[in-house]
Amino acid sequence: MKRIQSWFPTQIYCAPLLTTGGDKLNRELLLECQQVREFDEEGQRWSSKNYPGGYTSYGSMDQLHRFSSTFMELNRQLDRHVRAYAKAQDWDLGGRRLEMTDCWVNIMPFATVHSLHLHPNSVVSGTYYVATPKGCAGLKFEDPRLASFMAAPPRLAERRPSNQVFVTYPASAGHVILFESWLRHEVAANPVKAERISLSFNYHWA
Ligand code: NI
Repeated sequence: MKRIQSWFPTQIYCAPLLTTGGDKLNRELLLECQQVREFDEEGQRWSSKNYPGGYTSYGSMDQLHRFSSTFMELNRQLDRHVRAYAKAQDWDLGGRRLEMTDCWVNIMPFATVHSLHLHPNSVVSGTYYVATPKGCAGLKFEDPRLASFMAAPPRLAERRPSNQVFVTYPASAGHVILFESWLRHEVAANPVKAERISLSFNYHWA
């Protein structure tokens, strides 16, 4: 047995949504994300107060998986990934299943920020990337133990990757990232002119 072993992992899942045919679904999702923004005046107003410079349907249309067959297909494909993630966690769901409860679009033009947050009342949360212009911000996660570190020394610049207190996953169109809903995360200000577009979602234990 090794003298030092690591325990209590924080598991983050990242994979292409589809191995084939993903481009077609992504094109349809891109079009519908833009249509939702145009159509959703309530969301535009909500975003101007709560998401400066950007648009999100979080405060207005957060059930996109019930809205059209394209978003339903995204839901269907994400279900497989969530099942694989739950399996890796060894969760005992007692015959119940994880179901998508919310799904919303986020459009981040230049300089829009998504500050540090978590997703209450959910089990698994995640993001599917629709449009990720070169150089756009990734998804940054914070070590969930950070508030307990107290007098722990900072880490060396040459630390092992697993000893980082933050990790950033690049945003890559066609990919899905899943994490436990209590894990805090943020998106830094979009440094490029083109819009970064993603669909975020929650799964709950039904
Ligand atoms: Ni989030």
